[in-house]
Amino acid sequence: MFSNLKEQPGDKILALMQLYKDDPRPQKIDLGVGVYKNAEGQTPVMRAVKAAEKQLWEIQDTKSYVGLAGDPAFGDAMIGLVLGDVVARDNIAAAATPGGTGAVRQAFEMVRMANPDARVFVSNPTWPNHVSILKFMGMPMVEYRYFDSATRGVDFDGMIEDLKQTKPGDVVLLHGCCHNPTGANLNLVQWQIVVDTLLETGAVPMIDIAYQGFGDGLEEDAAATRLVASSMPECLIAASCSKNFGVYRERTGILMAVAQDKGLRGLNQGTLNYLNRQNYSFPPDHGARVVTMILNDADLRADWAAELEEVRLSMLGLREQLAGELQRLSGSDRFAFLAEHRGMFSRLGTTPEMVDKLREEHAIYMVGDSRLNIAGLNKNSVPILAKAIIDCGI
Ligand code: LMR
Repeated sequence: MFSNLKEQPGDKILALMQLYKDDPRPQKIDLGVGVYKNAEGQTPVMRAVKAAEKQLWEIQDTKSYVGLAGDPAFGDAMIGLVLGDVVARDNIAAAATPGGTGAVRQAFEMVRMANPDARVFVSNPTWPNHVSILKFMGMPMVEYRYFDSATRGVDFDGMIEDLKQTKPGDVVLLHGCCHNPTGANLNLVQWQIVVDTLLETGAVPMIDIAYQGFGDGLEEDAAATRLVASSMPECLIAASCSKNFGVYRERTGILMAVAQDKGLRGLNQGTLNYLNRQNYSFPPDHGARVVTMILNDADLRADWAAELEEVRLSMLGLREQLAGELQRLSGSDRFAFLAEHRGMFSRLGTTPEMVDKLREEHAIYMVGDSRLNIAGLNKNSVPILAKAIIDCGI
């Protein structure tokens, strides 16, 4: 039986993680996988997470099963964080999932159950695992224009032209904030135009929001998702706690199905529960419980938000330093986009050959499409990266 298996394509982000690990050069710089690192290169457990875990250890007296959708308190807390009060709770079905990836997978499953012929429109480019999961599931996928390689901003006219081709039953996958891999984002006026376009075509938006709090702030980063959820008849939202709570390995995420027709909530909730049961039964609880404790306790929440804000500001500082350094070395503004982009990533916009050169000659690791993780830098490594970029002739 096993000999019938075929080699599967590796994930380029995870392959890069391994290459970096195996590189003996001490000066190596990891700008690959999307994990936050502080100035010392560590990914610390956030203070509020540690405190909540300590409390949990004291008070938790069972590890028995919770429920197919996870703890309802987690659902309520996350709905509050992502959607605020723009949609009535009665209109939202929600289920905890293993990380944001679990939520994305379950969302696609739900789409396919509702419409086996659904086409999923994804930005070009998008997070490679979106594409990989869709291919694995055999779901039709259509790319819409997104990144403008000349300006390193969004090709908004191209995007809208492509979204106009959607029809009822189609799903449009959008990044709620901090677009991965490009770092280029829509403003709220543009989001409104996306909403108007989808209202016209009848396609359903699906938002992947994995970096809330990493762009312009917790509330600001949720604004687009809130606009979509409050304007469209239906939408799906896959949210991750991996990055903004730093609980990567705990696999903490949530899928929300929002419908303006309250009558659909029961059906949606039943579908989410059923999908969890089929795929892994009960979702992981530890990370979700810690997140719930933080969001529901004023002191823990304030401390968490403050630490997240420090993280956000440190990334913004690094962006500005890098753009400034590159301006100095190149004598031009052609890298100014690095300070405009938001979130953990920016797409530099260079060739795979140049990305290889940076790795081979300078021990600088970034994903082959020239996505760099800003959080992999610190004040000392920014000038090294800037010099390497210029030395390579990028
Ligand atoms: C990334 O894009 O690097 C992260 O979301 C990690 C991953 O799982 O790919």
